[in-house]
Amino acid sequence: MFETLDTLPPDPILGVTAAFRRDTSPLKVDLGVGVYRDESGNTPVPAAVRAAEQGMLGTQTSKSYVGPAGNVEFNERIVALALGPLAPTLADRTATIQTVGGCGALRLGAELVKVSRPGTVVHVSDPTWANHEPLIGSSGLRLERYPYLDATRRDVDFDAMLGYVERLPAASLVLLHACCHNPTGADLTPAQWAALGDVIVQRGLVPFVDLAYQGFGDDLETDAIGLRVLAERVPELLLAVSCSKNFGLYRERTGALAVITTNAAARAATATHQARLARRMYSMPPDHGAAIVARLLADATLRQQWQAEVGSMVARMKGLRALLATRLSARLPAHDFGWLTRQRGMFSLLGLTESGIARLRDEDHVYVPPDGRMNVAGISDANVDYVADAVARLLA
Ligand code: LMR
Repeated sequence: MFETLDTLPPDPILGVTAAFRRDTSPLKVDLGVGVYRDESGNTPVPAAVRAAEQGMLGTQTSKSYVGPAGNVEFNERIVALALGPLAPTLADRTATIQTVGGCGALRLGAELVKVSRPGTVVHVSDPTWANHEPLIGSSGLRLERYPYLDATRRDVDFDAMLGYVERLPAASLVLLHACCHNPTGADLTPAQWAALGDVIVQRGLVPFVDLAYQGFGDDLETDAIGLRVLAERVPELLLAVSCSKNFGLYRERTGALAVITTNAAARAATATHQARLARRMYSMPPDHGAAIVARLLADATLRQQWQAEVGSMVARMKGLRALLATRLSARLPAHDFGWLTRQRGMFSLLGLTESGIARLRDEDHVYVPPDGRMNVAGISDANVDYVADAVARLLA
C-alpha cells in the first residue's frame, strides 16, 4: 500500500522547530514557529486560563459527546469577542461552529465554500502564512495571490492591493489577515479597511478573515477594527478564529468558524452544512480548550486578568521590536530599522536571501523559516546582541 509514497520535504515552519531541536549548540536561537515566549524562552499558560481550566475541571461531570458544532457558549462568546458591539446585531445571520484550531476553521470554511460554489477562486496575500495555501487549496478551491507588501517601504502596498481587488469577478473570496499579518507584520489602517470594504461590497466579493492574533498587535479592540469595519458593511463574510496565541491554548486546538450570511434562513442552512462537513471529516471538535475559553470569557474577573496578561505579552513584543531596532541601528547606522517598530504582532520579514537564511542557521544557529520570517518573541535580553550581530552581518 505505502511502498510508492515519496518522502516529503519538512514543513516550512514545523520543520524549523525540528531542526532547532536537533541542533546541540548552546548558542542556538529559535525565531521560527509562531509561539509567544517569555524572557526565559517558555511559552506560558496565562494564569487566568489556568484558573479557568481548574474551575472547569472542578465542575465538569461528564465527558460525553458535545456535538459537531462544539460548545455553544464558546461559539457565542468567541464571536462576541471578535465582533464586539456588532455581534448581537449580526447574531441571526451568523452560523458558528467550533473548530480544530484556526487551521480547522480555515479548512472547514474552504470546504463550505466548495460545497456552496465549487468554482470559487480564493485570493491570498503575496506573501501569506506558509500553511494558508496548503490548508485552503486542499479543499480543491483554486488560489491566486494579490499584491500586498511593498518590500522597499516594508509596508502594505495598498494601491496595488486595491487595484487588484477592484478587478476581481463577483463572488471571489478574498483571504485577509485581521491583524498582525503573518509573515510581514504589516497591517492595513482603519481607513484602508474601510476603502477595501467598499470595494468588496461594490464588486460582490466575499471576505474570509483570519483572526489568529487578536490582542497581539495593540489590544483586543484595536486588533478587531478591520474585521468589524468589514462585518458592518458586507452581506457575507467568513471568519476563522484561533485561540492558540491569545489564550496560549496552542495544543488544545481551539478555534471557530463564523459565517455571516445574508439572512436567518441562510444562517440555518449554513449551520447544517458546517455540522455535516465536520461530521464527515472528524465528527466533533475537542472540548477542553473551548470549555476553558467559554468559562473565562463569562467571568469578569478572569477576563480582566487575561486581558492584562495579553497586554503584557504585547508590551514585551513591542519592547523587543524597539530593542532589536536599536541594536541593529547601532551596528548598521546607514540602515533604517523603523519598520521593526511600525509592524505589529509576532512576525517581521528580515529581508534575507535564501543563502543568508542558511548562513544564519549553519553558522550562527539562528533559526527562521525559509521566507526569512522572524518570530520577534524568540528574542530576549540575553540573545538580542547575538541575533543583531548575526543579522547585521548579513544585511551589511
Ligand atoms: C506560525 O505561523 O508559525 C504559527 O501559526 C504556527 C503554525 O502552525 O504554523
